Amino acid sequence: TAEASPAPAAAKKVNPNAPTEETVLEVKHYTDRLFRFRLTRPSTFRFRSGEFVMIGLYKDDGRPLLRAYSIASPSWDEELEFYSIKVADGPLTSRLQKIQPGDKVLLGKKPTGTLVHDALVPGKRLYCFSTGTGFAPFASVVRDPETYEKFDEVIVTHTCREAAELEYSKEIVEETLNHEFLGELAQGKLRRYGSCTREDYEYKGRITTLIETGKLFEDLNVPPLNPETDRVMICGSMEMIQDVKDLMLKAGLTEGSNAAPAEFVIEKAFAG
Ligand code: A2P
Repeated sequence: TAEASPAPAAAKKVNPNAPTEETVLEVKHYTDRLFRFRLTRPSTFRFRSGEFVMIGLYKDDGRPLLRAYSIASPSWDEELEFYSIKVADGPLTSRLQKIQPGDKVLLGKKPTGTLVHDALVPGKRLYCFSTGTGFAPFASVVRDPETYEKFDEVIVTHTCREAAELEYSKEIVEETLNHEFLGELAQGKLRRYGSCTREDYEYKGRITTLIETGKLFEDLNVPPLNPETDRVMICGSMEMIQDVKDLMLKAGLTEGSNAAPAEFVIEKAFAG
C-alpha cells in the first residue's frame, strides 16, 4: 500500500538530541561588533529565563558548528532572541553575522544555566551585573514577570567600553517599562545603570570600581550590599566575573547554584 513503512535499511537514524533547524525572523545590528536576532521557537522547547543553549550553523562539510548562547528572550515569549558579538575571523560569528530573515539557524535541545531564580534564595533587591554581551541573559530575566513577583527592586547594570555598545540594554529596559503587561510589573522596580569605561556617558567606570567606591549605591540611592536583602546575578568576561565575585564574597554573600540556591550566581558571557 501507499502507507508502507520504509525498509529498515533505508530508515534514517534519528538522533533525539540533534539540534533543530529554526527560521530567522528578525535581525538588528547595533554596532559593527554587536547584533541581535530572533528565531522561531519549537513548541517543545522549554527553558527558564536566564539560561543558555547551543546554537549554530552547518559548516561546509555538512557538520554542525555550535556555540553556547544565552537566550535573551523571556521564557513566555513565542520566539527566541539572541544577542551576539561579530568576530571577523570567528568560526561561527563570521558567518552568523550575515544571517537574514528566512535563513535557518541550528538550535540545541538542552538549555541550562545558573542565572535563574531557582539558584537564588528569596530577597528584596536583585542586582544583575553585566559587561559586554553579558547583558544577554538579563534581557531575559528583566522581561520575566517572575522577577517582579520575587523582588521589590531590580537593578541591572551594563558596562561597556563605548556608548554605542550600551544601546541594546537601554532599548530592552525601555521596552520592558513601556510594555503593555510587563510595564505595570516593572515600573517602580526596574532600574538600569549604564556605564562606559572608554567614553563619556551618564556614568563612567568599571562596575568593580563603582561597587568598591560605593558610587553605584550613592547614584542609585540604595544602601550598601547586604546579604540579608540583596541577591546578585553576574555575567561578563572571566576576569570581570572573578573580580565581581570577590566583591560579593567580601560583602558577605554566598555563591548559589541550582542544587544549592544562595545569594549570588555567576556565568561567563559566551562570545564568538
Ligand atoms: P575596560 O575598558 O576598563 O577594560 P571587554 O570588551 O574587554 O569584555 O570589556 C567590557 C567592559 O568590561 C569594559 O567596559 C571593560 O572595562 C570592563 N571590564 C573588563 N575587565 C573587567 C574586570 N576585570 N572587572 C570589571 N570590569 C571589567
